[in-house]
Amino acid sequence: MQRVAAALDRAVADQPPSRPMTQPACAHLSAAIAGAERGPADVARVTTAFRALVPDLHWRLKSITDPTFAAGHANANLLGPYPEALERRDDVWVGVSLMAPEITYPDHNHPPEEVYLALSRGYWRQNTHPWHEPGIGGVVYNPPGITHAMRSGPEPFLAIWCLPID
Ligand SMILES: [Fe+2]
Repeated sequence: MQRVAAALDRAVADQPPSRPMTQPACAHLSAAIAGAERGPADVARVTTAFRALVPDLHWRLKSITDPTFAAGHANANLLGPYPEALERRDDVWVGVSLMAPEITYPDHNHPPEEVYLALSRGYWRQNTHPWHEPGIGGVVYNPPGITHAMRSGPEPFLAIWCLPID
């Protein structure tokens, strides 16, 4: 997070406005946000700041064809090297994952290390270790390249992820 924070101290040039886009899973966003805003004060502050960005977000699907997963998840990039990010920059990648209840975001991995901030209840897994629940406001650290997955329980899942890019 120190590397992410250091990168964010560097401003980028003005950019064109975002192209908002929603996905079916966004039907669960209001409930997820409301749950987070009832959480610990620091989580509520982050969530209120996030809520102000929601009208501008471009939600996208991970390219997996399973129809239950396609209807039950969405990702949005706040910062990153992607055309749909609110702020396009190549030194840090910050985004959010949203899932409907009882959805598993399958195993994935990426070279950059990563920190997730849980804004809802939900479960994380690394490699074949048991699932664990960090709780609202909990943090998950993924070392570079580790295989990891998430899943929601009976409530919508919302988490922010931050990856410093070398
Ligand atoms: Fe990840």
